[in-house]
Amino acid sequence: MPEAQNVSFPPSFLWGAATSAYQIEGAVRENGRTPSIWDTFSHTPGATADGDTGDTAVDHYHRYRDDVALMARLGLNAYRFSVSWPRVQPTGRGPAVQAGLDFYRRLVDELLSHGIKPSVTLYHWDLPQELEDAGGWPERDTARRFAEYAHLVGEALGDRVDQWTTLNEPWCSAFLGYGSGVHAPGRTDPVAALRAAHHLNLAHGLGTQALRSVLPARASVAVSLNSQVIRPLSQQPEDLAAARQIDDLACGVFHGPMLHGAYPATLLEATSPLTDWSYVLDGDLATAHQPLDALGLNYYTPALVSSARNAPAGPRADAHGASAHSPWPGARDVAFHQPPGDRTEMGWTIDPGGLHELIMRYSREAPGLPLHVTENGAAFPDKVDDDGRVRDPERVAYLHAHLAAVHRAVADGADVRGYYLWSLMDNFEWSYGYAKRFGAVYVDYATLDRIPKSSALWYGQAARTGQLPP
Ligand code: NOJ
Repeated sequence: MPEAQNVSFPPSFLWGAATSAYQIEGAVRENGRTPSIWDTFSHTPGATADGDTGDTAVDHYHRYRDDVALMARLGLNAYRFSVSWPRVQPTGRGPAVQAGLDFYRRLVDELLSHGIKPSVTLYHWDLPQELEDAGGWPERDTARRFAEYAHLVGEALGDRVDQWTTLNEPWCSAFLGYGSGVHAPGRTDPVAALRAAHHLNLAHGLGTQALRSVLPARASVAVSLNSQVIRPLSQQPEDLAAARQIDDLACGVFHGPMLHGAYPATLLEATSPLTDWSYVLDGDLATAHQPLDALGLNYYTPALVSSARNAPAGPRADAHGASAHSPWPGARDVAFHQPPGDRTEMGWTIDPGGLHELIMRYSREAPGLPLHVTENGAAFPDKVDDDGRVRDPERVAYLHAHLAAVHRAVADGADVRGYYLWSLMDNFEWSYGYAKRFGAVYVDYATLDRIPKSSALWYGQAARTGQLPP
């Protein structure tokens, strides 16, 4: 693999790690925080593996100083985290709770004092339960509520945070939350899923405007999408048509409004038996289409899609968890296949070429916008060896191959400014609970002790030297 030799990145490159509030913080009842949809969902019997919840998670709320010190020791120069909406604005309305904002101020100050650049995501899936009770993302008012919340957080942290992200993976919020129901709030209504997608687009636009009204001009505002790499099983017209439908539902439904100011005509047409999209009001698409300063992309694995007629018998996979309900509203005559190659513990095929492909697609679709890989990583069944160390050579190989793919994309002309490993440490992997470990740092869930895995040491060396170690 020639690309593995002497792969070096510019000194300004951001070597980060990413987390999200509900997955790591715990302290779910402290200082006025109220339940989010993930508190409610994780406490619903059968919703998560082993009934796991984020009640304690990895107790980052109390251990953030140690966690920041650990990042600094490893050599990271950036950290992407999310703000918990119900910690800052418990009912999703009205004034902010000072104690909630103060937590994030302290966290940011701690990062800055260690030379680590903070990158704040406003929404990583933890909608205040009261807003879900009022209808949640399928309702327009939730987008307005989000803009108000964005304003509060922007005002509180804008003097010390330069990098802002409105939404993380709105696809999951809409289609796993309201379509297949494997994520909170666990609803299984295809029309609600499409309505949610639209109001997330609107929330992104209104939230961006709200941030701009309070942030200094130097601030960068972005969104993190999990625009998936969709590959047709063959070049047969019916397989290409199936891949096209999924691409519209995975990518176009957000790229369209956010990057181009319109939904793809093919998406509107394919979903027309379900919905007339009458909740898209005049001006919504212009609002969703805000000028941005950067784009975040999250990548794990590609999808392989064919017409159901061309689906050979055998294992089929859609990487988004088991449900009797589809996360692809309106898709007809579509089958998913397991892409060839080695897999992670999630069953996701390891395909670094997909990351290169995705970066190049973003470069074409959003020319001139700096890109950040805001998530990339893998779960493996890590364990502590007798000598107390955690060796994860598969994760090192995964990171190496994917960072080499980023490097190749830069060589091909893409403007990638940073990479955030998912995740800093093992944490609550949504409906999989604590069973899947994505961390570069191992967490012993009995003691909550942190042990850097060999991948954390490898990645730290890359961050300190700007080159991929062997
Ligand atoms: C994407 C999500 O943003 C993150 O929360 C999740 O843990 C990882 N993917 C891994 O599934």
